[in-house]
Amino acid sequence: MQFPKLAAFKTTAELRRRVAELGLELPLADVVTPADFARPARAATAAARAIGNRFAILPMEGWDATLTGRPTDLVRRRWQRFGQSGAKLIWGGEAVAVRLDGRANPNQLVLSSEHEGELADLRELLVAEHTLRGNPHDLVIGLQLTHSGRWARPNPDKRLVPRVAYRHPLLDARSTVTSDAAVLTDMEVDDLIGDFVRAAIRAQRAGFDFVDLKHCHGYLGHEFLSAVDRPGSYGGSLKNRTRFLRELVAGIRRDAPGLELGVRLSLFDQLPFQKGPDGVGVPMAWSGPYPYAFGGEPDNPAQMAWEEPLALLRLVRELGIQLVCLTAASPYYNPHLQRPAAVPPSDGYLPPEDPLVGVARQVLAVARVKREFPDLLVVGSAYSYLQEWLPQVGAGLLAAGMVDCVGLGRMVLSYPDLPHDILEGRPSQRRKVCRTFSECTTGPRNGLVSGCFPLDDFYRQHPDAAKLKALRANSGA
Ligand SMILES: Cc1cc2nc3c(=O)[nH]c(=O)nc-3n(C[C@H](O)[C@H](O)[C@H](O)COP(=O)(O)O)c2cc1C
Repeated sequence: MQFPKLAAFKTTAELRRRVAELGLELPLADVVTPADFARPARAATAAARAIGNRFAILPMEGWDATLTGRPTDLVRRRWQRFGQSGAKLIWGGEAVAVRLDGRANPNQLVLSSEHEGELADLRELLVAEHTLRGNPHDLVIGLQLTHSGRWARPNPDKRLVPRVAYRHPLLDARSTVTSDAAVLTDMEVDDLIGDFVRAAIRAQRAGFDFVDLKHCHGYLGHEFLSAVDRPGSYGGSLKNRTRFLRELVAGIRRDAPGLELGVRLSLFDQLPFQKGPDGVGVPMAWSGPYPYAFGGEPDNPAQMAWEEPLALLRLVRELGIQLVCLTAASPYYNPHLQRPAAVPPSDGYLPPEDPLVGVARQVLAVARVKREFPDLLVVGSAYSYLQEWLPQVGAGLLAAGMVDCVGLGRMVLSYPDLPHDILEGRPSQRRKVCRTFSECTTGPRNGLVSGCFPLDDFYRQHPDAAKLKALRANSGA
């Protein structure tokens, strides 16, 4: 299945025609001015101050910390570039495990007591870079705290060592869960909450303005939200499925008072996908209602069911949380929904829909949240596929009040100074625009570091670039 390349559209009118042909709603500003993005974003509680502009940097890990979870020069370079970007909201930096067994890869950062100082230095480095180009007083920096649950791969042998919220009829086989021993007991969950709270205390001491209690992408926090079959106090009713979040908030408020909280949420999910006979992604076979997609309609998981995500967001608001970063689904089992791309990662499948549809799905879902929760500060994701059109769509969304901050994920790896260029009124630099070739995902899926191998000269020269090239040649891609 071939879809028109975005770079082929030469005018805004041509792109608008394509958007209309697909039956999508994607506001596009005719022109982009610094003023579109320069207004501060304000949440009542966000570190008690305004966020200086409408760009956010999404969490982007690099599979490049030491085996004990300390930052390396590669991590430091990435965070420096986040600081250089000019974006005033740094949503999470990257996933940081609250303990060793929660790492999604053996090179993920870990927020243990020994590393607290180095995390503080990392934040300082980001602030110092930011200060070279602007005032840091309206820069807000959070740290994403995580346990990778089903997708934990904490050891150097890179095998999955899953710890799950519940036995999953489709994902168990894909994540090597073979017995109930992988299911965390309620007591183990209680202990884990203690680890999150201790990590939050360290993040606060390290100077972070907030911690993100990650509930997305199939990791543990997200998995609890669909633990409908789990017995005990963390499964079954929505009240029980959100107990993990509520306990985290209560513990952090008790032991790290004053620390702001945020939640990155997969707002909807669907069935897991796999490669079909022609290489195009198809949902895994399933008959009857599918209750395991949080935010998906059980009788037709491709449709969103809003009731539970809205109830969760009401809870988030009741818990006094104002910072919300919205994303979708999971990079492990339906990446086309989570990060629409022109080229799939090596373990993915050809896109079953025009990736523009994937972008618009998230855009519209985020807009509904913004409409229903005007007081939350809402960050959107999955805009990188828009490539050179990203600033125009971002400006259109902001003008229409469909989102508060435009989050940059893959784009920040190839073109960290995009926000700076826009805010200075300069045209964007085409040669740096992310083309969503997915090499930043293919690298780590094959045990390499992540970075922008096609466009960032530093990674072009990196020894892993040659390994990636060989991998591509062997796969015939
Ligand atoms: C290489 C890579 C690393 C990522 N790391 C994280 C992460 O640590 N935490 C997280 O919540 N999302 C992570 N994501 C997802 C992004 O934050 C973002 O949601 C996704 O890339 C879609 O946004 P984009 O279209 O701007 O790339 C990662 C994505 C990629 C490609």
